[in-house]
Amino acid sequence: MPANCSPTRIDLRYGCGIMLNTMSKSNTTKNEKMESIVSLAKRRGFIYQGSDIYGGLSGTWDYGPLGVSLKRNIMGLWWKMFVDDREDMYGVDAAIIMNPKVWIASGHVATFADPLVEDLVTNQRHRADHIIKDAGFSADGMTFADMDKFIKEKGIKSPAGNDLSEVRTFNMMFKTSVGPMEDESSISYLRPETAGGIFTNFRNVVDSFYPDLPFGIAQQGKAFRNEISPRDFIFRCREFEQMEIEYFVDPKRWEESYEMWRVQMHRWLEEGLGLPAEHVHELEVPEADRAFYSQRTIDFEYDYPGGRNEIIGFAYRTDYDLGAHQKMSGKSMDYNVKGTNEKFVPHVIEPSLGVERAVMAVLSNSYTEDEVNGEKRIVMKFPYHLAPVKYAVSPLLKNKPELVAKAREVYAILKKEFGAVMWDDNGNIGKRYRRQDEIGTPYCVVIDFETLEDGAVTVRDRDTTEQKRVKISELITPPIQA
Ligand code: GAP
Repeated sequence: MPANCSPTRIDLRYGCGIMLNTMSKSNTTKNEKMESIVSLAKRRGFIYQGSDIYGGLSGTWDYGPLGVSLKRNIMGLWWKMFVDDREDMYGVDAAIIMNPKVWIASGHVATFADPLVEDLVTNQRHRADHIIKDAGFSADGMTFADMDKFIKEKGIKSPAGNDLSEVRTFNMMFKTSVGPMEDESSISYLRPETAGGIFTNFRNVVDSFYPDLPFGIAQQGKAFRNEISPRDFIFRCREFEQMEIEYFVDPKRWEESYEMWRVQMHRWLEEGLGLPAEHVHELEVPEADRAFYSQRTIDFEYDYPGGRNEIIGFAYRTDYDLGAHQKMSGKSMDYNVKGTNEKFVPHVIEPSLGVERAVMAVLSNSYTEDEVNGEKRIVMKFPYHLAPVKYAVSPLLKNKPELVAKAREVYAILKKEFGAVMWDDNGNIGKRYRRQDEIGTPYCVVIDFETLEDGAVTVRDRDTTEQKRVKISELITPPIQA
């Protein structure tokens, strides 16, 4: 282990799996920011360790009441932007457990593997490319055999300082058995990506809708990968969600669609998730590092607190997938161009997004520490459209029935209009504001004695902390955030 690295927590088979050990001393503050976000996420009910009461299960996370709202807001926005608002997109929701031939055809059974090395003393397992990276080198472009040679040549040790085993191939798919018999014929897999269920429904969608090319099929849902070393909070999990599009094109015109989706991905990251453009990067993946079937791949990266890393994979996958399924299933994947005799297997462009990485980017971009009246506060500056709670409503004093009754009236009005509205009468007003700041509620509405006289309430802005009086009748027309 290099001298400047110190594991903050070790990832055991069970347990939290938050490994922030790749960062140098100069990254201490970034490291601390990540720790603060993880702690806030738990304290305020965004994200908990999976199976927490049993000590956790590494690589699994549970979304609490606010986390699930944030995640659904992100997923709902993606569906709206890329399915509902477009004419050329079709949504599907395929089964998670599929015929194993799907994963044989796609190449996952043979090649969906990571390079594994084992600590020869503790038997702890690691990803060889991560071990090389953590030692200050890059494993980009290396085959598994190259990594093995490199680790030996450089004398790279495990994070615990011990010798490492040979690099072995480790298939990341979770195997399961379908039906009452557990034998070779019952083996299936939890899907490692949502794309599989899109390709297997290509024929169905074409036969039902006969869309013009180019068109896309979209799917959101769970994916499972038995990651060797899940790490960095929800960045690398064993169970996560994807939002994937397979956009089918005429191979002669793939470039224009690729460019269109490249621009759309920036729109998603910057307008959709509200991430600052200067923290979003495109990494043009060189040919040597691309999958053999990909003719172009851009990894969209984001500056997470732990450093720059992938948020979206964006590949031109040619006709590899449909061609492979055509061969394995014996079903034609040809597309007949309307009004002509021309037919061919369409090529595909794939913007592939991970929901957890989007949630993590939004959490880290929103996390802010500032000072109000000399007092430190933590505030989650979520964009309004992603905030899990839009308004919190409080009576100034909870032991005054007339204030509570009026506040309940206002709460009902806002709840009907915006849905995501919280009733909050715990503690004094200052404490309520601090709590709502920590969960990123854009507006706190307080009902006081004046309200009973003039029908106006105090609306306090999360970001500026400014307060203004607004008539109850004006709270929803137009929305006060406009
Ligand atoms: N169908 C192509 C595909 O799945 P990928 O690059 O392996 O491509 C796409 O995954 C996206 O899924 C990644 O950019 C990332 O956002 C997310 N993702 C992949 N593995 C993940 C993991 N273990 N935990 C969380 N998100 C993951």
